Amino acid sequence: MSEAIKGVILAGGLGSRLAPLTNITNKHLLPIYNKPMIYYPLTTLINAGIKDIMIVTGGNNAGDFLRLLGNGAEFGLEDLNYTYQKGEGGIADALKLVKHFVGSSKFCVILGDNIIEKSIKKYVEKFKNQKDGAKILLKKVEDPERFGVATIKDGKVIKIVEKPKKPESNYAVTGIYFYHPDVFEIIKGLKPSQRNELEITDVNNHYIRKKTMSYDILDGWWTDAGTFESLYRATYLVAKKCGVTPAKLKKIKE
Ligand code: G1P
Repeated sequence: MSEAIKGVILAGGLGSRLAPLTNITNKHLLPIYNKPMIYYPLTTLINAGIKDIMIVTGGNNAGDFLRLLGNGAEFGLEDLNYTYQKGEGGIADALKLVKHFVGSSKFCVILGDNIIEKSIKKYVEKFKNQKDGAKILLKKVEDPERFGVATIKDGKVIKIVEKPKKPESNYAVTGIYFYHPDVFEIIKGLKPSQRNELEITDVNNHYIRKKTMSYDILDGWWTDAGTFESLYRATYLVAKKCGVTPAKLKKIKE
């Protein structure tokens, strides 16, 4: 039997792009249709069979995650782990905090504002059989310049550029990543980017150079929810998934 994969949800940051919504709460506690945002990445992991999960949060409202999610019993978990990221050091900086939790396991990272339609179980199973390196999930989008963008050649990702002005493809790197614990050694060698963060894209390019990066195209829709437009889109997509049809929406009178 293959070893279980652990899960990490990154739910820190100041959410400044969503101010004033985020002035008194954490972005990941804002509503997406009928649930707080954090419920979605949490259930994405749980539905993929990942039960050992750590949430990295930050800011002034970190305690609210504990009040909301407790020990995870409501989600069928035996326990839920939390840690706290000071400031805004970036995704790779947040990952440093989960080293002890991860130990010698492989793990899946999901950004707390990434909301998807379908299950990631098949990618989790594939990564269980991947001997080394990392895996990313890509999705074709219309506005690639907002994301990390992957160039694919001969069935391999050959590079990722973070928020390129002139994207080489429409393949956005979604915020769902799979790593072996050697990722912590790679993070140690990173230098802060122009936006003064430790970039996950730099980590991923490291694996690409070592030729140990695999990828899949994510099934179903995917959205982030870190801007007003994407937050609105996320609510629309989730409502639709919950059976709120465009016809029903039309019936809502002004
Ligand atoms: C981050 C990553 C980016 C990725 C995106 C997915 O961007 O840096 O590569 O495409 O998440 O949501 P950020 O949301 O920090 O701007």
